[in-house]
Amino acid sequence: MPPTNHSASPPYSPKTLKQQQHHHHHPIRSLHRSLNYLLREQRLLFILIGILIGSTFFIIQPTLSKLGPPEPASLISRSVSLSSYRRPGSDPFFSRGSGRVPAGIGRRRSRIVVTGGAGFVGSHLVDKLIARGDDVIVIDNFFTGRKENVMHHFGNPRFELVRHDVVEPILLEVDQIYHLACPASPVHYKYNPTNVMGTLNMLGLAKRIGAKFLLTSTSEVYGDPLEHPQKETYWGHVNPIGVRSCYDEGKRTAETLTMDYHRGAGVEVRIARIFNTYGPRMCLDDGRVVSNFVAQAIRKQPLTVYGDGKQTRSFQYVSDLVNGLMALMEGEHVGPFNLGNPGEFTMLELAQVVKETIDSSARIEFRPNTADDPHKRKPDISKAKDLLNWEPRVSLREGLPLMVTDFQNRILNEDEGKGNK
Ligand SMILES: NC(=O)c1ccc[n+]([C@@H]2O[C@H](COP(=O)([O-])OP(=O)(O)OC[C@H]3O[C@@H](n4cnc5c(N)ncnc54)[C@H](O)[C@@H]3O)[C@@H](O)[C@H]2O)c1
Repeated sequence: MPPTNHSASPPYSPKTLKQQQHHHHHPIRSLHRSLNYLLREQRLLFILIGILIGSTFFIIQPTLSKLGPPEPASLISRSVSLSSYRRPGSDPFFSRGSGRVPAGIGRRRSRIVVTGGAGFVGSHLVDKLIARGDDVIVIDNFFTGRKENVMHHFGNPRFELVRHDVVEPILLEVDQIYHLACPASPVHYKYNPTNVMGTLNMLGLAKRIGAKFLLTSTSEVYGDPLEHPQKETYWGHVNPIGVRSCYDEGKRTAETLTMDYHRGAGVEVRIARIFNTYGPRMCLDDGRVVSNFVAQAIRKQPLTVYGDGKQTRSFQYVSDLVNGLMALMEGEHVGPFNLGNPGEFTMLELAQVVKETIDSSARIEFRPNTADDPHKRKPDISKAKDLLNWEPRVSLREGLPLMVTDFQNRILNEDEGKGNK
């Protein structure tokens, strides 16, 4: 018996037959056939499931990308005044001291956090990172830093400024963290436990997001050193309960935490031990010797020398330090590395250079020394020379004049401000 041709489920027909049917049949019938074809063997169901999966993906995808770490938009303070945005290369101090790096040649653009980026060293580092072509987020609570130090980047989409105290945790998605936030001068550092809590929070962040972490430690970890000059292998001679110990021991603890996170949690870390650094944007009256002398000479006040003035220090120009920090971050070695200028000066010699540079008639006044003031401090930088291929280039006599104009302008503004009150 020939098979009955059920219109609801037509039998399978070879292709040639199908084609013939297509050509000779009425369009309504062929639509009917296509519908039948679709409805058979649950084809329609599979098509619907496919559409559902596709559209679910496109609906969810934008939501997923928003679920990344939150951008603290409300915290980001950005000036929209494009006119105030000066290119970093146009900063006379910055370009004179360090030169410019061509933007992002042969390297991926990184997202970088600089804590303490509105401070003296931090703001110069930010200038150079932005000039290199990176995206920079500054975290600062303006304890000693100033918006003016980074204001020339306001309006640049690659720059963000977040007012935040690093003693509190923060979540951001970045590749590298330069951790500088710290009340860093004798007048300020007694007030704040930033070193321990801030470093812990930033290390926690680095671990969580897999970022590289650089700690700016200090030559103060050597205390009043019994070895001279100081190598990184020297363990230091620090008074744990003295007036300076909040800073010295705080930084020593910060180094310990950094190494613990490195060894225990596999965080990629770098440690720099910074020696006395000077340059434009230094705090005016923070008790550091170079800024003290320069400000005093400009204000026509006597230069105050503590103790007999025979204690020595080495002074590094800020662009040299910034180059060292970046070489350390980009290099392979954890450190610690001494970053400083080994050229050694007594306080009296420094006062002399300041007199020669600013005001030859300036007087020197002697005062009793502060407790635990180290007598000698000079870095041995052979490790950084060998492994980072870094050494300072700017001498004190070249660098000092570069900060004078900046100090003069700020002291002038300060005086005008007082006059207006
Ligand atoms: N300048 C030097 O000679 C020198 C020497 C040794 C080490 N260092 C280290 O280098 C780093 C930078 O020093 P600097 O000379 O630029 O000092 P700075 O005071 O100019 O900068 C420190 C910055 O950290 C910010 N800050 C302080 N506490 C904070 C907190 N809790 N949360 C967020 N931000 C905070 C300040 O507002 C400031 O902008 C410091 O860690 C310091 O210890 C500097």
